[in-house]
Amino acid sequence: MTSTNDIRRSFLDYFGREGHHIEPSAPLVPYNDPTLMFVNAGMVPFKNVFTGLETRPYSTATSSQKCVRAGGKHNDLDNVGYTARHHTFFEMLGNFSFGDYFKERAITLAWNLLTKEWGINPDKLTTTVYHTDDEAFDLWKKIAGLPDHRIIRIATADNFWSMGDTGPCGPCSEIFYDHGDHIWGGPPGSPEEDGDRFVEIWNLVFMQYEQMESGERVDLPRPSIDTGAGLERVAAVMQGVHDNYDTDTFKALIEQSGELTRTATGGEHKASHRVIADHLRSTGFLIADGVLPANEGRGYVLRRIMRRAMRHAHLLGAKDPLMHRMVPSLITEMGAAYPELFRAQPLIEETLLREETQFRKTLDKGLKLLDEATAGMTEGQRLAGETAFKLYDTYGFPYDLTEDALRGKGFGVDREGFDEAMAHQKAMARAAWKGSGEKASDEVWYDIAEREGGTEFTGYASTNGEAQVIALVKDGAEVDSATEGDDVTILTNQTPFYGESGGQMGDAGTISAAAFTAEVTDTAKPLGRLHAHHAKIGKGTVKKGDMVQLAVDAERRDRVRANHSATHLVHAALREHLGAHVTQKGSLVAEDRLRFDFSHPQAVNPAEIAAIEADVNAQIRGNDAVTTRLMSPDDAIAAGAMALFGEKYGDEVRVLSMGASKGKAAEKADPKTYSVELCGGTHVNALGDIGLFKIISEGAVASGVRRIEALTGEAARQWLTARDDALKGIAATLKTPVDDVPARVGAMAEQVKRLEKELADAKKALALGGAGGAEAKIEDVNGTAFVAQVVDGLDPKELRGAVNDLKAKVGSGVAMMVVTNDGKASVSVGVTDDVTARFSSVDLVKLAVAALGGQGGGGRPDMAQGGGPDGSKAEDAVAAVRAALAG
Ligand code: ALA
Repeated sequence: MTSTNDIRRSFLDYFGREGHHIEPSAPLVPYNDPTLMFVNAGMVPFKNVFTGLETRPYSTATSSQKCVRAGGKHNDLDNVGYTARHHTFFEMLGNFSFGDYFKERAITLAWNLLTKEWGINPDKLTTTVYHTDDEAFDLWKKIAGLPDHRIIRIATADNFWSMGDTGPCGPCSEIFYDHGDHIWGGPPGSPEEDGDRFVEIWNLVFMQYEQMESGERVDLPRPSIDTGAGLERVAAVMQGVHDNYDTDTFKALIEQSGELTRTATGGEHKASHRVIADHLRSTGFLIADGVLPANEGRGYVLRRIMRRAMRHAHLLGAKDPLMHRMVPSLITEMGAAYPELFRAQPLIEETLLREETQFRKTLDKGLKLLDEATAGMTEGQRLAGETAFKLYDTYGFPYDLTEDALRGKGFGVDREGFDEAMAHQKAMARAAWKGSGEKASDEVWYDIAEREGGTEFTGYASTNGEAQVIALVKDGAEVDSATEGDDVTILTNQTPFYGESGGQMGDAGTISAAAFTAEVTDTAKPLGRLHAHHAKIGKGTVKKGDMVQLAVDAERRDRVRANHSATHLVHAALREHLGAHVTQKGSLVAEDRLRFDFSHPQAVNPAEIAAIEADVNAQIRGNDAVTTRLMSPDDAIAAGAMALFGEKYGDEVRVLSMGASKGKAAEKADPKTYSVELCGGTHVNALGDIGLFKIISEGAVASGVRRIEALTGEAARQWLTARDDALKGIAATLKTPVDDVPARVGAMAEQVKRLEKELADAKKALALGGAGGAEAKIEDVNGTAFVAQVVDGLDPKELRGAVNDLKAKVGSGVAMMVVTNDGKASVSVGVTDDVTARFSSVDLVKLAVAALGGQGGGGRPDMAQGGGPDGSKAEDAVAAVRAALAG
């Protein structure tokens, strides 16, 4: 038997040998195409190559592309489990020519692979061509030697393939395998074509046109080839089975589901096992590609798939969550071809376990309600829409799960009633919101969110993407278009732009299309659900409904990422070094720096700062991968997560884990991880991406709250370089090696102090004794000895000491000195203790101060000081004191 893995390998090898570039599967989320929910064909990642928008270094390629057909236009969810060939997840093998070869080589390559490489009996193969495509008809005859009746002309859209309403398209030619006359069915185009006997295994699309939004069809730059062969179908053929679910991969998964639930894999349980096997695949791959269960958008499609499978596990009698236990089997089967499954294994298992645990809480009650509601119903009747809504709203039953649950009994569901109940609930929510006192200016956001749902954020995985403009807001109101020079807020159905939240600034970048370019300066997140790109239109006009390219300024984002992850590390390091009382009080994650506010009663001392810095840098050098998981807030906190300030938490939170712990941190609930936090922000993939971490300031913001500012990566390097340059400059000035600078500066500081002292002494000596100062003479004023001296340029600090010297000189009496500096005067009067009964220094100095044009003056009776603005009146001040002594 040829295994599915062998077939995939041999397909890629074959086309590789034929000169095709082997391209790994693109992720399931088509960031390059807003019209698609998930990648649903092998050509999707090459769409822009076909239309000429994008060029690649090769002109032919081959791939085995992961595809999901659930939600959106191609939705096979409802049929899965009940047919031989419907899947929510499948792999499409394909070969592509971008203007290289065309029909002839495409047909030759396909035919040779099927009949020569793989040895499929040519008699079992039948082909179709578009009814007008004589060229393809003739080529099949020539290359495969097929008789006319096995080259069937088909006039319907079946043989004109298009990706969607827009995009590359062209006539196609399909290859069918005849599973034999024991199965009912006829060749394509026959009345029995819907039977299962003839199965399409390969579609060769001769891409020639691009379908435009306007309805017009234009020629592609060069005719191209897109082919798609469903790997599961090919495997069925090669393994001699008719049913895809009987191929090796599915058999292994179904057997395990049987073992774990101890149920037979056939009979009444057949559909349930198939649903579980199929949904396990789509769930595993979607989670590995970054989709997580949510209540909107892609995440809700995933949730619908998961819950549908979980109900079937319940039907099989599983008493405990089942799906997560099957992940190892999925990885055994498919991990070699898709290593992302290995990488995401813990995330897939945890997400499944959590979702199943949560859903099981309401599943029984919901099913009971469903039983009661359907008790009196007869086949063909419909369940009331309101009941379906209650199941949805209260018990978490997606609409299609209810449908699926009733399918076996032959009951339908009243969809209109369900929609009405949903609309009613929305109206109530709006009324409640209006009553909550929200700002009227926010109503525009509410309108948009209600009409369009939230913006899907694609930016954890990518900084580029395409999207559709769902609203334009100018001056607080919705508009249909905006033109050159306008400041406008652009809202799209999905975006890689992060909207400011949780302390992380919003992204900047560009939004553009052929008709316009806009510079996004900031992205906000009104209502916590919409990403509002604040933009200025550079040229052209943007209109509501436009398909646009979004490009985040990726370098700026990288800097923000590094700063955000560093914030988590510094939080953990602070707790490690300062204690568990440290909690986050706020943060700012900008492109050029980070700021972290936290509770702590005193300044963080330099030794602590150094230790924190060293630890954070050690984590960075450790270069551990940063992991993200989705959990309930309670589980996350139980797992040791530190909640971040200012975030509103929903049912599910992202939990960021980074680094390896040591020391005290190892005592935490999650002992192996350095930092565990709830966070919706964007982070580095591995800690080494932060590069370098440097704290540049520490200070107080409020009582008990400290703030650290820090830099990472290139900004930190530049900061350190600037410091180094400054140091080198100092060294050059001092003509000293850099290493000797601290000692030299220390010595110089000492020297300066010494010199200042010497200078002051010299000045004093000069002022008091030299030519600048008048000789102090003792006079007798009405029986009181009085000495006064006026000096210029003496440091006022010396004044007191100098007056004391004069007092000593007088012995008993009054001494005064006026010092002038830069036209101003300081004065001090001293009275010896035996004279203070008669004269107070304070009174005398006040007189002197007044004479100097000043006010006040004070001190003690034996010594007082003051000053005045007019130094030229120094002698008047002396005269005023003399007059007072004279009485
Ligand atoms: N793109 C083609 C398909 O999906 C091959 O069938």
